[in-house]
Amino acid sequence: MLNHLFLHCRPGFEKECAAEISELAAGLGIFGFCKTKDQSAFVIFIGNEADDAETLLQQLKFQQLIFVRQWFACVPFLDKLPTDNRITPLLEACTELPLCKELVIETVDTNDGKALSGLRKKIEKPLTSAMKKKGLLRGKSTSRLHVVFLTGSEAYIGWSPMNNSAVYSSGIPRLKVPREAPSRATLKLEEAWHHFVPADEWDHRLAGSMRAVDLGAAPGGWTYQLVRRSMFVDAVDNGPMQEALMETGQVTHHKLDGFAYKPKKRVHWLVCDIADKPIRVANMIATWVAKNWCGEAVFNLKLPMKQRYAEVQKCAAKIEEILADAGVEVEMNFKQLYHDREEVTGHIRRRDI
Ligand SMILES: C[S@@+](CC[C@H](N)C(=O)[O-])C[C@H]1O[C@@H](n2cnc3c(N)ncnc32)[C@H](O)[C@@H]1O
Repeated sequence: MLNHLFLHCRPGFEKECAAEISELAAGLGIFGFCKTKDQSAFVIFIGNEADDAETLLQQLKFQQLIFVRQWFACVPFLDKLPTDNRITPLLEACTELPLCKELVIETVDTNDGKALSGLRKKIEKPLTSAMKKKGLLRGKSTSRLHVVFLTGSEAYIGWSPMNNSAVYSSGIPRLKVPREAPSRATLKLEEAWHHFVPADEWDHRLAGSMRAVDLGAAPGGWTYQLVRRSMFVDAVDNGPMQEALMETGQVTHHKLDGFAYKPKKRVHWLVCDIADKPIRVANMIATWVAKNWCGEAVFNLKLPMKQRYAEVQKCAAKIEEILADAGVEVEMNFKQLYHDREEVTGHIRRRDI
């Protein structure tokens, strides 16, 4: 019976995260309030009813959350952990939680959080073995136990369902920029695929010999990912593409305006990393999908300084309107990925492919 929900987010996006969870909760008839602090990289939603947090974990789909990186239902703040024995109070708090399969120790995505990585490593083994000894970890469970340290003596402890939460600690995937990749931006598309395309569907949805269009492609970080999956790519950008990528023979470079470009033949993937007005990008992507110029699309929406959640909703509504008019059914999701900054990534997939 837990009414506190811990939500990790990108620092600076606490208001968006709070607005999102409050709106979705209200849609389920769950009311409460959010505790937020600017740049803290987390939000606490406190529901009015005793089990509200667990109801939200059950009834909302994690995959649909935009600004939430990871979430778990937790017991109220533990603020007086003795620094010479943090383990005992953490074990006591576990009595309010279900048995879990595994324990993850997390910090928030701030400089203070990073400074606690030593503590995280130090406590992980002894806490895990103390929990095993008490029978608090069970191999058959489908829940995950989370401990987030805010300081050396302050923590939140709780649980998440493993099939409805992020697989990564704090919701942050550890991806490495490949040495030969033309830009760091390459990780945005790789992370998007990890998030939007289930691992067991990569072979047929990211298959060799598929065709793709990359709008705003230069210098080629996203094209690199498509080429790595053995696809053939039309890369559209006035800027120069990395030479090594062009030498693969899989890329055709078009020095054209991405908003005016039309494919000669239908492609499986459209990807777009053009930083322009979000609604302009949304309109263009919806047109591609509506006209069946592509089967799936990944695109970035650069967010304004204010009303960022509202802006994503406005773009989503516009896309839905265009696709409804065209009678096209899709799956559509947005996510502020770890490698996104002032932006969110969208994904659309036609249901008829
Ligand atoms: C963030 S960069 C893309 C980085 C790329 N995805 C990568 O991974 O290397 C944005 C690109 O969009 C291009 N761009 C901006 N407006 C464009 C337009 N109207 N048509 C095509 N490209 C455009 C810019 O030239 C720039 O190269």
